[in-house]
Amino acid sequence: MSMYDFDKLTNRRDTDSLKWDVKENELPMWVADMDFEVLPDITEAIIRRAEHGIFGYSIIPDCWYDAIIAWWEKRHGFQMKKEWLCFSTGIVPAVSSIVKRVTNIGDNIAVMTPVYDIFFHSIENFGRHTLECPLSYDDGKYSLDFYELERVLSHPLTTMLILCNPHNPVGKIWSKEELRKIGVLCDKYGVTVLSDEIHCDIVEPDKQYTPFASVNDLCKKISISCISASKSFNIAGLQSAAVSIPDPILRNKVVRGLNSDEVAEPNCFAVAATVAAFTKGEKWLKELNEYISENKKTVKKFLSRLPMLRLSDSEATYLLWIDCGKITSSGEELAEFIRKNTGLYLSAGNQYRGNGNAFVRMNVACPKKRLEEGLALFEKGINNYICKK
Ligand SMILES: Cc1ncc(COP(=O)(O)O)c(C=O)c1O
Repeated sequence: MSMYDFDKLTNRRDTDSLKWDVKENELPMWVADMDFEVLPDITEAIIRRAEHGIFGYSIIPDCWYDAIIAWWEKRHGFQMKKEWLCFSTGIVPAVSSIVKRVTNIGDNIAVMTPVYDIFFHSIENFGRHTLECPLSYDDGKYSLDFYELERVLSHPLTTMLILCNPHNPVGKIWSKEELRKIGVLCDKYGVTVLSDEIHCDIVEPDKQYTPFASVNDLCKKISISCISASKSFNIAGLQSAAVSIPDPILRNKVVRGLNSDEVAEPNCFAVAATVAAFTKGEKWLKELNEYISENKKTVKKFLSRLPMLRLSDSEATYLLWIDCGKITSSGEELAEFIRKNTGLYLSAGNQYRGNGNAFVRMNVACPKKRLEEGLALFEKGINNYICKK
């Protein structure tokens, strides 16, 4: 029996929400932020902390480490050690700090595109080059071309690979064997793997992600993993993440970087929320994943009315990746048209680079009723766009 109400339509307007600070007639289904109220234990933990009434500097207590370690051990069969972990105020701050500390100006940083666009900022804002390893796209499915990956990793200036595991926006979970091969190639060319695992707990009910560092000792040695409760439990605004670095020498470098960039200290709600999520959130997350899976099925069924579009298979994340190549070469133009014409606000695919130009990304982490409204607007927008052309 379900315990949580994901159908509840909470009004998010006038809450200074990045996603919802849009025009009155607009329906946002873009940025990766969910429209569900969080696990009640998280809200209670924050209220309890707030009722204390004093908000000085915070430390990281043992319960933060214990909660993370127990969650990964139980759900992902991976035993992390307390000393591997360092707090960070978010995954993006950690990625930027790690890029600065572990690579040099002028280095290449490899990414598998299309991929989460902010990686490009973390690379290019600090004078590094993005070296794209485009994912292969065949018959609507993405895969990793290991020849292409080797080409990119073997470049003498390539010192880091930023892996998105699972992969935003294509919704792919990398298999243990793929991760093992990535590890072998990165080691061969002396490339450090920065594995962003923020989406790891939003998976189809019958799927399981593999932490990169859990694959074998080699993957452990060459990797830095960024993990967090913020996507799975919808607490991105609380700015809390963890970085796990098993190798002591690499860890020393990363931890110094995080500290000197001043992104290693929590606000006073970050720990309470993370601990509540990882100690009390199992049932909520199970129901959430079932709900999101149903939403994805709804979209898939609906899109049979628009056979010129192609939905990528989604194993993970609540972000759907839709190929609109049969009707446009510019997902940006299409997304802009749909937004102006219907109010539906999607993400344009070009920002993720790779073959993303003709795609749009749809966030389906919302109550079903809102999703259905969004789909009706989407159909109208697509049909009007085709008529206009
Ligand atoms: C792959 C990936 N990494 C990181 C983030 C953001 O992480 P944070 O809010 O902890 O900086 C996102 C948000 O969409 C994401 O998709």
